[in-house]
Amino acid sequence: MGRGGARRIPAHDSNSKERDHPAGVVSSGESALEDSAVSSETDALARRFPPGFAWGAATAAYQVEGSTGVDGRGPSIWDTFSHTPGRTRNGETGDVACDHYRRWRDDVDLMAELGLGAYRFSVAWPRIQPEANGRVNEAGLDFYDRLVDALLERGIDPYLTLYHWDLPQALEALGGWRNPGIVARFAEYASIVGRRLGDRVRHWITLNEPQVFAVLGHANGVHAPGMHDWRAALTVAHHAHLAHAAASDLLRRDVPGARIGLALNLVCYEPASDAAEDLAAADRLDGTSNRWFLDPVFGRGYPADVVRLHGDLLDGIDLSAVGGIRPPDLLGVNYYTRELVTTAEGTLDPARATIVRPPRPRSTMGWESYPDGLRLTLERLHRDYAPTSIAITENGSAYPDLPAVDGAVDDPERTAYLAAHVSAVADARDAGVPVDGYFAWSLLDNYEWAEGYDQRFGIVRVDFETQRRTIKGSGRWYRELLAAAGR
Ligand code: FCB
Repeated sequence: MGRGGARRIPAHDSNSKERDHPAGVVSSGESALEDSAVSSETDALARRFPPGFAWGAATAAYQVEGSTGVDGRGPSIWDTFSHTPGRTRNGETGDVACDHYRRWRDDVDLMAELGLGAYRFSVAWPRIQPEANGRVNEAGLDFYDRLVDALLERGIDPYLTLYHWDLPQALEALGGWRNPGIVARFAEYASIVGRRLGDRVRHWITLNEPQVFAVLGHANGVHAPGMHDWRAALTVAHHAHLAHAAASDLLRRDVPGARIGLALNLVCYEPASDAAEDLAAADRLDGTSNRWFLDPVFGRGYPADVVRLHGDLLDGIDLSAVGGIRPPDLLGVNYYTRELVTTAEGTLDPARATIVRPPRPRSTMGWESYPDGLRLTLERLHRDYAPTSIAITENGSAYPDLPAVDGAVDDPERTAYLAAHVSAVADARDAGVPVDGYFAWSLLDNYEWAEGYDQRFGIVRVDFETQRRTIKGSGRWYRELLAAAGR
């Protein structure tokens, strides 16, 4: 269950103090000697990738846009959830976030300054279809239309995600992802966006992390819509599979030549010891969290062992309906960490497993940096599912990132995290895994869902008081890597 089952480390208090500091301009703060030492390593890393490899950064609509009541956008489940007392850290919401809806031109300039070759963003469904009647809000489409044009003008290839968790509240009122009608509604929405932007957008991600929005939203209750019902979570996951398939079919019809796929959160589950029970627990968690999503997406239906594990939680679901789904043209992999697994009784998790936290340096999310898990995950995908093309659609880490008095942010931990994971991608490519893109999560510090603004994942710092953007040390490193890679 990835981060869903795992409790996160309490947020750092230091960040609230940090906001009192005015953010300033970036100063390099590095000596020429250090620069050249960094460069040779970075050059060597860049040389491990071919020309045409998509180097990018990612964001998601609700996490960055703000302007939630503007230009006809309807409310989403995340507006409702974040405005419900007690649901998010300090009651924080995405009302303003990074104010990207108004500052998008500057943000595209920033992407160009970083040398990005690709940008993964999501379309806010409630901007496109604000109401239950499905009416199309042209002003919502116009926003993404302008964004796509601006990206292309700067040679930045758009990777468009259709659903990154901000379901229109009007559809939630009809049962949301629990209602089988969501399948046709999502496909219709995909087709609307496809017909408007498909002449310019080649890479389409239908859903972001169905496991997370199914389980964290409906079983663990920590994400919108905040339910505690495993049956509901499995129904949601089922409808997500069908919605991905139906939307992919319509996109194939409406957007000739599109590369269509989805982004899965894949966690590397490893047993906490050699004990047979721990091996079995890790396998169960891999089954419920990874294979439950991979197997149907690759046309194999649900894995029989996990069907047995879920047992009567699946009553009423027509499991055969997910058989024969056409494999994605592009598999998006969101990878952050591994989880060490042991057994536990009495947990609500159907996999009956517990995550052990290794005593190593971890991010402020409590996540271990384990780059080898990315290599292992990629090699496993290649061996077990043979996807034709993979992009790392998210990878990154959160740290306190306290700015210096001059406003510069040096975040060597993030640079080390990103470099080690890019290197793991290169290792996987050397082993024959067809990875053709890498997206740092995230372009900007942003609204980290229930964690609010305290968890900073950006390669660019955002001062949420002033909305000032400052490229962090990791962003400067990424720019250097991309320049060396020939961007
Ligand atoms: C992923 C989400 C993304 C962000 C990162 C940290 O699960 O897709 O929006 O929250 O985690």
